[in-house]
Amino acid sequence: MTTQISNETYGVITGPSGRAMAQAMESSLSLAFQDHLTMERFASASYFANSIWFAERELRGFSEFYRQESINEQSHASQFADYLITRGQNISLQEIKSPKQNWVSIEELIAHSFQMERDVTTSLHQLYALAERSSDIRTTVFLDPTIESQLASEDEFAYLLGRVKFANNSRSSLLIIDGELSDGKITPRKTN
Ligand SMILES: [Fe+2]
Repeated sequence: MTTQISNETYGVITGPSGRAMAQAMESSLSLAFQDHLTMERFASASYFANSIWFAERELRGFSEFYRQESINEQSHASQFADYLITRGQNISLQEIKSPKQNWVSIEELIAHSFQMERDVTTSLHQLYALAERSSDIRTTVFLDPTIESQLASEDEFAYLLGRVKFANNSRSSLLIIDGELSDGKITPRKTN
């Protein structure tokens, strides 16, 4: 596995971007970060599409929830971009595919979101394992809070999926959930 040291001046190594770099980053880790950045941008596009889907159906609570989720995912993408810049890496934005926009039910849409969150968590775990393999502690420290908040996202979507599943396609029940989301109520239970 190659490390990315492209130059050295006054004992300071610089990364592929030409920026001073405190510790070289493994190429495979840098590439995996680029892929993860794309994943966050795709999640943002998907949630924006979901926000539109709900807005078209007058479900403003669901629409607002997904609008905010879309913003959150874009912010995660920015965090990853900032980290790559900090580490002296070049960022090459990849093409993102069109998100799915047709759903047979609200439950199908939310189940899909839950699976997407699960895949993001898996990707973060893979980044963590790669970082550990190259003793890149800067990266594991960066990833720790991200992985923790990702677990909270999975919990949030599991909660929403459970509520929607319980509603069993009843329009009046779904309107109650939509009202809760309008009021910003999306906090899963607390048992302590
Ligand atoms: Fe994210």
